[in-house]
Amino acid sequence: MKLKGLLLAGGTGSRLRPLTYTGAKQLIPIANRPILHYAVEGMVQTGITDIGVIVGETGPAIRESLGDGGQFGCQFTYIPQNAPLGLAHAVKTASAFLADTPFLMFLGDNLLRSGLKTLVDRFISGQYAASILLTAVDDPRQFGVAVVEDGRVTRLVEKPQNPPSHWALVGAYCFQPEIHQAIMDLNPSWRGEYEITDAIQVLIDRQRVVDATFVDGWWKDTGRPEDVIEANRLILEDLTPKMQGILDESEVVGRVSLGVGTHIEHSIVRGPVVIGDGVQIRNSYIGPYTSVGNGVLIEETEIENSVVLPDSIIRGVAERIDQSLIGRGVKVQGRVERPKAMRLVLGDHSRVDL
Ligand code: DAU
Repeated sequence: MKLKGLLLAGGTGSRLRPLTYTGAKQLIPIANRPILHYAVEGMVQTGITDIGVIVGETGPAIRESLGDGGQFGCQFTYIPQNAPLGLAHAVKTASAFLADTPFLMFLGDNLLRSGLKTLVDRFISGQYAASILLTAVDDPRQFGVAVVEDGRVTRLVEKPQNPPSHWALVGAYCFQPEIHQAIMDLNPSWRGEYEITDAIQVLIDRQRVVDATFVDGWWKDTGRPEDVIEANRLILEDLTPKMQGILDESEVVGRVSLGVGTHIEHSIVRGPVVIGDGVQIRNSYIGPYTSVGNGVLIEETEIENSVVLPDSIIRGVAERIDQSLIGRGVKVQGRVERPKAMRLVLGDHSRVDL
């Protein structure tokens, strides 16, 4: 059985504002690569080569980043979704592309270390109407939640107030084409969306077998800024060092990747750290679990556990920057002249913890 892929890269990304005012949440870089690229790689590793990509308002940027699929060894068909009306609505929008082929759906803002291949292999070798991926979470209220009895899913509920189990739905699902029929019978949920969770419940109500696979390794839904910082830490754990930059009276320890045309002067870099191309670092300390995007300038500053997007300038900051997510083209500067007051120009929904 050869599956098609459906990658969801639409939606609004309101929880990642202000970063998502100017870009797609699925393109936020983790260890200097867009989240979406990891998703594509995971899908291709399962043997899938024909992938439909659901796009919304940020479609042009998604297309530019992914291209035609050649760089990943697959082929993309872009499918515009008029409004982000829910995951089941996305499947409905893709029904002409999916036709009567079974498929793997993956949410483009989810990161998985492993598990997609196991999910797909089990689905292909079994007789299931659907297969879902689950992981145990501390607070299941912000996810779809499944009840599993004797290896079968018996009940599903989206973002429940009183979760019936601690098994959260990870954003990866395999479906037989009969899911299209189940989606036709849905009504919008309390949050006004057509939920894929409800469509799977329809399958169960029709006595169809829904299988569950459990995540092996870590999983991250990168919906909030703290998730991006944590996902960055997890990806950097596996960083392969690469030295293309120039060191000048600097100390680099641990696993560090330096890009082309990057210059480190009178500084300490303690890995795991990834620093992109054309970056200037002077009289600074870059600590573990930090990713610095292309074209950034960091001077007289200490920073760790943070993600800095391209073309930002951080200069003369008195206190160490920790657990921070800094957008594109941002300027953070310490003040030496008097009055030593703070001067802030912050966009809507910015957050500053002093
Ligand atoms: O992350 C796992 C969770 O993902 C599951 O536990 C939930 O059951 C599932 O409903 C989903 O919940 P979220 O509220 O986190 O989904 P979100 O709205 O963030 O959308 C997930 C991805 O799908 C995101 O990359 C945007 C994209 N999307 C979303 C909607 C609603 C679309 O492409 N079209 C849409 O209409």
